Amino acid sequence: MRVQWTHGYASAPSGFARCTHGFGEILAGMQPAACDLIMRECFEATETRSVLDPFAGGGTTLVCAQTLGWRAVGADVSPLACFVSANRNWRASEEEVEVMLESARTVTDRAGTREEKDGANDEDASDVPRSWRAVRDALREYLASDAFVGAPRVAEGLWFCMSVALQRTQKSQNKRRHKGKSKGKRGGGGDDASRVNAETFLKTVEEYANRLEQFREECAKHAGAPAPPASIHNVDVRKFKLSAEDKVDAVLTSCPYPAVYDYLSFARKVRAGSGAVVPSSASFSARSGPTSSYVNTVVPGDRNWPAGWTEGEIGSRRALRSDPYAFKDVWQREQEEWLAVVADSLTPRGRAAIMVGDGANIDTRASIVAAAAKFALREVAGCTMKLTTTTEEGRVYNQARTEHLILFDRA
Ligand SMILES: C[S@@+](CC[C@H](N)C(=O)[O-])C[C@H]1O[C@@H](n2cnc3c(N)ncnc32)[C@H](O)[C@@H]1O
Repeated sequence: MRVQWTHGYASAPSGFARCTHGFGEILAGMQPAACDLIMRECFEATETRSVLDPFAGGGTTLVCAQTLGWRAVGADVSPLACFVSANRNWRASEEEVEVMLESARTVTDRAGTREEKDGANDEDASDVPRSWRAVRDALREYLASDAFVGAPRVAEGLWFCMSVALQRTQKSQNKRRHKGKSKGKRGGGGDDASRVNAETFLKTVEEYANRLEQFREECAKHAGAPAPPASIHNVDVRKFKLSAEDKVDAVLTSCPYPAVYDYLSFARKVRAGSGAVVPSSASFSARSGPTSSYVNTVVPGDRNWPAGWTEGEIGSRRALRSDPYAFKDVWQREQEEWLAVVADSLTPRGRAAIMVGDGANIDTRASIVAAAAKFALREVAGCTMKLTTTTEEGRVYNQARTEHLILFDRA
């Protein structure tokens, strides 16, 4: 817990291999070094070879598990989380990384010399910002041409980088706007901005390539056979079921905290903000992997998002706002529903470690321990961290949320 609190999310402490951790933004996550430590301290002695994260988010647990050679399974209701996680968990070969870099260089050159087409100045709320259209169009054309020799997985890595690069520029534009340094016209800036964005795209691909290489090297360090590719499911975990032969030895997760975030609303915001970055047609229409709902969704003009973008989130802030009186009971029922899945996913004597923080006046440790007991998950250890400051006058302030780490075994 100290490691989680000291280093936070998403950066890894110096000396710890960053791999793909923190690449591409999601709302909250586990500290990779804390995740690694929990796996070694709490699971390794029990000869764990497989791990499930039922709230996998950006996939920190899955990346860490693979570096230990363990089979990793993840579920998350958010299409954005699954898109990010699938791309963080890609164990690309040297050759794939090389093709990706070469393709990005070509696309950057082409985007830099691209003439703006008629109509390119039109603002379309569902499209990418204007200054990104040259990169987007150059990438689309290149990937559809015979010159591109990579597999569909490489193409997806490139789209992922485009979406990360776009998100980064939007974030820095917003920061500058807050400081009053920019007039902040959406997507404005003409040819210069297009060229700068093409360079940003290339830098993003280069950083991603480095991270993928580090991830591959870390995975090769352990003595045993390499882990199979992580399996990631875009699903409400309460509807998730592992077959008997796929059951896991351990569960490690940081579940949603009560009324702290709105993960699905964040996912919609990011997807809408990047407009038609990722193609929603042709090359991706046949895909049904973990990223397909992110990639294939056309941003609706009327905010009428498909159910997968609006339903199934546990413990959202929105839920508290919409019915504050029912929240606590709903929360407790939801804990039972997902912990039933955890119990059912574990092999006999399997273990589960859960990191959670309090909110909405709920003691989450008590709530989870009570819900878990209904499914024969026994609390074997736990710790709670509460940071407070005491002033000279003796007043005590809470400095941060109270957080818990709870370890269960399946009795
Ligand atoms: C604290 S975050 C997990 C962060 C993750 N452990 C990581 O390190 O990136 C909680 C996650 O739970 C997901 N979530 C919320 N309700 C869910 C549900 N019913 N089924 C599956 N995932 C859900 C959210 O989308 C969010 O990504």
